Amino acid sequence: MKNIAIVGVGGMGAGHAVAIASGTGNPTMIIPGIFEKEAAKYHDYDTDLNGILNLIGVCDIRAERQEWAKKQGYRLYDTFDDVIADPEVDIVLIAVPNDQHHDLSVRAMRAGKHVLCEKPVMMSSAELEDVIQVSRETGKVFYPRQNRRWDEDYLIVKKIFDEKLLGEVYNIECRIQGSRGIPGDWRSKKAHGGGEMLDWGVHIIDRISVMIPEKIKYIYAHMTHITNDEVDDGFKMQMIFESGRTVVLEVATVDFIKLPMWYVAGTDGTAVIEDWGLDGKMIRLKSWEDKDAAPILAGSGLTKTMAPRLRGSTEELPLPEVHFDANELYVNLVDVIEGRAEQIVKPEEALRVLRIMEAAFKSDETHTVVEFE
Ligand SMILES: NC(=O)c1ccc[n+]([C@@H]2O[C@H](COP(=O)([O-])OP(=O)(O)OC[C@H]3O[C@@H](n4cnc5c(N)ncnc54)[C@H](O)[C@@H]3O)[C@@H](O)[C@H]2O)c1
Repeated sequence: MKNIAIVGVGGMGAGHAVAIASGTGNPTMIIPGIFEKEAAKYHDYDTDLNGILNLIGVCDIRAERQEWAKKQGYRLYDTFDDVIADPEVDIVLIAVPNDQHHDLSVRAMRAGKHVLCEKPVMMSSAELEDVIQVSRETGKVFYPRQNRRWDEDYLIVKKIFDEKLLGEVYNIECRIQGSRGIPGDWRSKKAHGGGEMLDWGVHIIDRISVMIPEKIKYIYAHMTHITNDEVDDGFKMQMIFESGRTVVLEVATVDFIKLPMWYVAGTDGTAVIEDWGLDGKMIRLKSWEDKDAAPILAGSGLTKTMAPRLRGSTEELPLPEVHFDANELYVNLVDVIEGRAEQIVKPEEALRVLRIMEAAFKSDETHTVVEFE
């Protein structure tokens, strides 16, 4: 068992604290209203964290969060220096705004602690290269928290892709859409690592980057600034892989009607996942034989190409079921520290994601397609 201390118990850090202290891995806090419905869908994971991770204490610079921590009965460290000076702390979990990840990770590892760092792990690939070097020098584990590799919607898409359930997937589109604009906290400040590319982009790029084992040839991105100029409040991005496969990624914060979260196009069918509620379906082709059809009336004209398929030439299927245990990330961290396992989320993978994001920013600035690998 390893002792973990959490630095920053705001939204995410508090979620970690609840997840670890309860042993369930469930980060759900009692947020009134909209999230209660979502929270009800969380189910227990296979793994119980009791006996694997122990929450030894937390630290936050804000009085209100310190009060919250005390009320939960958590041990409170006064400062970050107190956390890393405690010989009983094995792992420091960094859940503060993005601009502090580099400094705190380096100081923690140099003090002999392993680090679990929230996403985006760093503000730039140069920062992460430095951190990887410190991890090598100190022999301490640096673990990027790319937790959305364990999201059910993504694992369904990955299964369709890996097992070719719809033939060869030639295009994937993933959209994360909200309508509240960028939050008013540090996420709206460039200096703190705000903006949606760093906030949500990092998740959806990470998932695509590990799912598709191919070189990315070209990246084109356009950031939106609908609600503010300082940081992007969303983006549209296209990636073209070596095989010609394409990926379209979109994050938006000013969309009041959502498109499906996933649209997966394969040579033998199409899948749609509407949202986190996992409503969706697959339509699979039975045969390509009936290519020609009589023209149909479409708008003010006729079309043969877009005529619907004959009934019976395709079948509708439910989305495949997947098994997942989101506690695997915490467990893997401890296993890696104890020398029992290979790291699932590798720092080098996070480095590639940062480089992809940098290419996207460059594309946006120059209005050009960036050649990537
Ligand atoms: N993986 C995910 O799904 C996910 C989700 C949300 C946030 N995050 C990440 O978690 C991190 C925190 O985001 P958040 O939404 O919780 O932000 P937040 O503003 O809600 O919380 C950050 C907390 O850190 C505290 N803090 C700031 N500097 C500190 C310091 N030097 N020492 C101690 N405490 C300090 C603040 O007082 C605040 O309570 C970010 O990197 C964010 O990208 C990850």
